[in-house]
Amino acid sequence: MAACKANPRLLGTLTRRPRISSRRPRPASFRCCVAAVAPPAARTYGVTLLSGDGIGPEVVSVAKDVLSLAGSHEGIEFLFKEVPIGGAALDLIGVPLPEETLSVAKESDAVLLGAIGGYKWDNNEKHLKPETGLLQLRAGLGVFANLRPAAVLPQLVDSSTLKKEVAEGVDIMVVRELTGGIYFGKPRGFETNDKGEEVGFNTEVYSVPEIDRIARVAFGIARKRHGKLCSVDKANVLEASMLWRKRVTTLGQEFPDVQLSHMYVDNAAMQLIRDPKQFDTIVTNNIFGDILSDEASMITGSIGMLPSASIGESGPGLFEPIHGSAPDIAGQDKANPLATILSAAMLLRYGLGEENAAKRIENAVMEALNRGFRTGDIFSPGMTLVGCKRMGEEVLKSVDSQKPVAALC
Ligand code: IPM
Ligand code: MG
Repeated sequence: MAACKANPRLLGTLTRRPRISSRRPRPASFRCCVAAVAPPAARTYGVTLLSGDGIGPEVVSVAKDVLSLAGSHEGIEFLFKEVPIGGAALDLIGVPLPEETLSVAKESDAVLLGAIGGYKWDNNEKHLKPETGLLQLRAGLGVFANLRPAAVLPQLVDSSTLKKEVAEGVDIMVVRELTGGIYFGKPRGFETNDKGEEVGFNTEVYSVPEIDRIARVAFGIARKRHGKLCSVDKANVLEASMLWRKRVTTLGQEFPDVQLSHMYVDNAAMQLIRDPKQFDTIVTNNIFGDILSDEASMITGSIGMLPSASIGESGPGLFEPIHGSAPDIAGQDKANPLATILSAAMLLRYGLGEENAAKRIENAVMEALNRGFRTGDIFSPGMTLVGCKRMGEEVLKSVDSQKPVAALC
């Protein structure tokens, strides 16, 4: 029987007791995907795979193999279960987040998601959009803290659209609030105003506990990085931002070792391009985080490189690349799987507390890049152009033959 291991997940180490992994009985249908040659597994984790749409299935399939192999080197066994979400779930079951998908995800130790959405469902009513399924999943898992690292790798500095001297050495962590704000605020909807005109409306709303919990996560992360936290808001206009700034400032007193600054979001968007190296950790609300993390990703050269981790107070975390489903290249073996592979590394680190296996994956990605392999989005002359599967194979080779290389996230 597999031994149980305390799960020192990120938030556990910062704010709450560790969750014990592997103690709950698993549904019999969980399938073991670790190679028969693997050494006896010391720890077992259930991982829900949500491939989703577009390039999702291609990148998740590659990341799953990398996770299995890295785990087998570190005495970890994974029990994977794949369930539908997004457009795939709409086509199969008629809703973007089937009840079974949410309950399987909640039962597992961590969730790895590919991407959702596609042209086919773009004109669906809101409750039948793939994106609605993703928002329901985030809310259902209660994963309020979304960590989006954007680091410029030395191998890819020429892929950035910014000048080399601006991009070189950038290493930012965007901490995005993920289950509140205008994405979820009520009232929302469509109606007719007193002039008889049709209007659409949403509500940007944050409570003190919602602000405090995300701020605490961000301060904790900044403390472990370079000790600098920039809180981004629109406190010159929005009441929700005024409260946000007040609470973040108050909480700052609990973290005297973290240097706190505040910035309006329009200025932050400009500063990210002008001088991105001034940022270490950024904390911001749901919608500003959505926008700024896409912007930050382009500093690194390709959105196809960036992973994310979404963590809650308890229960499994959700790990997904920040890119979308890229329907234009789906099924063509052209997608860059590295963001999903790096999301698997974040799953190990933040979701399961398995630092060694996480580093093994990150180092393998660095090594595959060092050996010159590039997918189309990060290709530069002199490198070897490969597809999604081949990139996965090269990372697998590097997982097997580890050399000490600096970790990524
Ligand atoms: C993201 C995406 C999602 C979001 C969409 C697909 C709902 O843009 O994860 O950044 O807006 O959060
Ligand atoms: Mg986005």
